[in-house]
Formats: sequence, structure tokens, C-alpha cells
Amino acid sequence: MFISFEGLDFCGKSTQVKLLEEYLRKKGNKVKVFREPGGTNISEKIREILLDKNNTEMSFETELLLFAASRAQLVKEAIIPSLSKGYYVISDRFHDSSVAYQGYGRGIDLEFITNLQNFIIKPAVPNITFLIDIPVEEVLKRKSKIKQIDLDRIELSEKIFYEKVRRGYFELSKKEKRFIVIDGLNSIETINQQIVREIEKYETK
Ligand code: TYD
Repeated sequence: MFISFEGLDFCGKSTQVKLLEEYLRKKGNKVKVFREPGGTNISEKIREILLDKNNTEMSFETELLLFAASRAQLVKEAIIPSLSKGYYVISDRFHDSSVAYQGYGRGIDLEFITNLQNFIIKPAVPNITFLIDIPVEEVLKRKSKIKQIDLDRIELSEKIFYEKVRRGYFELSKKEKRFIVIDGLNSIETINQQIVREIEKYETK
């Protein structure tokens, strides 16, 4: 089973990924967790370029293609082999991030992005995608608690950018049946219970 987590920066995805990983392992499953961009040697190198805040000159096209390159390597080298060995694979962000951030956020043609993602990931489409939704005000509130120096290139984005990205996620969640939208303002524990319930529901289908 392949599960992806999506949401705006600071939505709490990574905490939920860890909790789900622990839950699945306790039940005796083999689990692999990946983060995007990253997860392989090549992809981690690309990640450094993407998130380096000194790279202010990066064009939106370059950004899209670097995310795509990082993902293509992760899918071929790690995700597909893990799925075929019977692992549960959890990805902290996957192709929907490119649609939301580069498509809706940056304004790159959506059809082109969708075709590019299909080219990269086929046949590795997640079975379930959890969208941890928080309002943009909450993103800004959580961001203000972090030192400016610790923010990466994309986390330095403006309010209007996050609003577009959030709208993108909503459009995706209406279109794609695999999406489960979760209120990220609930407590960590409540969100975890909801996620576990959804996994169990999926498995008894
Ligand atoms: P990361 O530090 O992993 O953030 P998070 O914990 O929020 O996932 O950085 C990933 C950043 O890259 C995040 O701001 C979202 C962005 N991103 C894209 O713009 N497009 C993509 O395809 C992916 C995978 C991430």
C-alpha cells in the first residue's frame, strides 16, 4: 500500500507520518518512509539545490523540473522496488505537491505538470492521500515562531502564494477520490486516530 501526505508548510504532516509509521510497524508490517524532495542520494542532492535560500535566481521552470527529477529517481530507485517487496510506503509529499505548489502556486500550466507527473510516477499512484489542511493564517502564525534564518527558500514565500497552493489542494481533493481531507487544527492525537481509521477502512474494503 502506498500512502502520501500533503499540505501547506507547517501543517504537521511530518509528525503524522511518524505516528502512522509507528502504528503500522507495531502491527507487524514492513514500512518504508520517504520525504520529498529527497529519499535517495541523487534526490537529496537535488533537495539541497531546491531549498537553498541563496538560489534566489531559480526560475519556476527549473524548480518544477528539479522536483520532477528528484521524484523520478525516488520512484525508480526506492518506491517501486519497495512496493513490489510488500512494504507499506509512506511519502511525506508526492506528485500532488508539484500540482499545488508549481501549478497553482507558481502558475505553470496544469496540463503540462500533470503529464510530467504521469511520465515520472507511473504506475506508482498513491492508494490514499491525506491532505492535512490548515488555513493560511495558521501557516503564518506557525512560521512566525521560527527564526527567519531557519526558513528554506520555499518557506520564505508570501501569504498570497500559500493561498493559491491551498486552493490547488482543494481542487485536487475534489477531483481525486484517493484524497482524504483532515482538519489540521485538531490535536495531534485526534488527527492520528482519524488517519488510522481511514487506513483500516481502506484495508477492509
Ligand atoms: P520540506 O522542508 O520537506 O517541507 P515540508 O516539511 O513542509 O514538507 O520542504 C519541501 C518544500 O518544497 C515545501 O515548501 C514544499 C515544496 N515542494 C514543492 O514546491 N513542490 C514539490 O513537488 C515538492 C515535493 C515540495
